[in-house]
Amino acid sequence: MIIAITGTPGTGKTDLAAELRARGYEVIDLNEHIRKNGLLEEKDEARDTYSVDMDALDLSLEEWRNSGTVIIEGHFSHCMGCDAIIVLRCHPDILAERLQGRNYSSDKVRENVQAEVLDVILCESVEADVPVFELDSSRDSATVLADKAEEIIKGNIDKYRPGNIDWTEDLEKWF
Ligand SMILES: Nc1ncnc2c1ncn2[C@@H]1O[C@H](COP(=O)(O)OP(=O)(O)O)[C@@H](O)[C@H]1O
Ligand SMILES: [Mg+2]
Repeated sequence: MIIAITGTPGTGKTDLAAELRARGYEVIDLNEHIRKNGLLEEKDEARDTYSVDMDALDLSLEEWRNSGTVIIEGHFSHCMGCDAIIVLRCHPDILAERLQGRNYSSDKVRENVQAEVLDVILCESVEADVPVFELDSSRDSATVLADKAEEIIKGNIDKYRPGNIDWTEDLEKWF
């Protein structure tokens, strides 16, 4: 089973992944996996991002598909073939602080916070025909999130269905 942990940059994917790894789960850092396997394509200078050969990426994950529970962490892990998707969420104000702390430009902070407010990654995730769950890293520590992710992995899923997290109150502030 492949479980994707996705979310807007800054929502806490890497921290949650580290906690799950410490608990013994097999966790693939998608960005590192892409670099190691030479799957980066040309750079988009305007957006300061690289594109990725998605077909090659999907193929490179083949060996993991039949090997117990594997967690893939990255902000487009939901675009891989996976069996369930956990979308990490974060309150816009807290997300902005985290991204500013990373020295993102103000444009890049705004672009990411807007995407979070508009549920972009959640919407992309529900397009995949697999179960989707949401966890809020502005409310819970990585330890609590890992407890919840473990519950999801074990099948206690009802509390984590999408729909409980709503940032629309903050919409006007960011547009
Ligand atoms: N559950 C959490 N509660 C509080 N702060 C968090 C939490 N998860 C992550 N952070 C902090 O937020 C920032 C972004 O976390 P990170 O895991 O790198 O996000 P991502 O991998 O989604 O970009 C880091 O400074 C991290 O320490
Ligand atoms: Mg990360």
